[in-house]
Amino acid sequence: MARNQDFLIPFLDDIYLGMDIQTLKERVFGRKKGKPIRAFQQSLLDTLLPQLSVPHEKLLKEKALLPAALFDKPYEKYFMEIGYGAGEHLAYRTEEHPTFGYIGAEIFLNGTAALLKHIKDRTTYNLRLHNGDALSVLKALQDNSLDGIYILNPDPWPKRRHFDRRMVNKNNMEIFVRVLKPDGFLMMTTDVADLADWMGKHAEAHPQLVEATNPKNRAQMPENWRETRYEAWGKSEGRTQVYMVFTKKT
Ligand SMILES: C[S@@+](CC[C@H](N)C(=O)[O-])C[C@H]1O[C@@H](n2cnc3c(N)ncnc32)[C@H](O)[C@@H]1O
Repeated sequence: MARNQDFLIPFLDDIYLGMDIQTLKERVFGRKKGKPIRAFQQSLLDTLLPQLSVPHEKLLKEKALLPAALFDKPYEKYFMEIGYGAGEHLAYRTEEHPTFGYIGAEIFLNGTAALLKHIKDRTTYNLRLHNGDALSVLKALQDNSLDGIYILNPDPWPKRRHFDRRMVNKNNMEIFVRVLKPDGFLMMTTDVADLADWMGKHAEAHPQLVEATNPKNRAQMPENWRETRYEAWGKSEGRTQVYMVFTKKT
């Protein structure tokens, strides 16, 4: 994926709920200006996305939202994917587990358009989307409300002075753990060695988390895993993908 530093401003007002542009630029890593959205994808954004979007008013109150309140029927379990990119993993999971409800958050509008293309022919949707900052959703969620969180290949922010912008940081780790149910999991993947180390250390340092994967062999691909294009691209360039799963203590 190209990593330019241009930003597409017009669609931001709705998404960032008043966040100023400088703060926004500090939050997101490159690639906000994607390829022009094709007419077909735009029509999905205009018609399907509003049906699946997390309503704005549900995000206004902190720690008040139960995932079940976003869906028209109850599900057995609820999961969230942070930064779903083109949505391949989310499309796969929602199909694999029709009795589970999923919430996805992604800033990149082209990514959301790509996800909608994957799922456009479904008749029901066990999926809700926030085309915006995942933290807005996480902050709105009640304590102990998710069965699992996926953070797959988060932006690496390689410069030391930008490390605190990484999705996995001390503050956000508190939020992830707060919203997870006891026994709920946090799955993190990356092919950036330094980021793998960073994410592993942050999770290990949290007193309520325990690693479910083998810390000595995080390169072991989980069973039934479906690679995203981003992951396949990293492997084709010779990078090692790591997969870490931590669970919240009961
Ligand atoms: C490197 S890409 C990986 C995409 C996907 N998870 C995959 O593995 O193919 C990281 C994604 O996280 C998204 N992202 C970054 N910060 C985010 C935030 N605060 N909320 C939601 N998405 C975010 C980016 O827009 C980008 O699409």
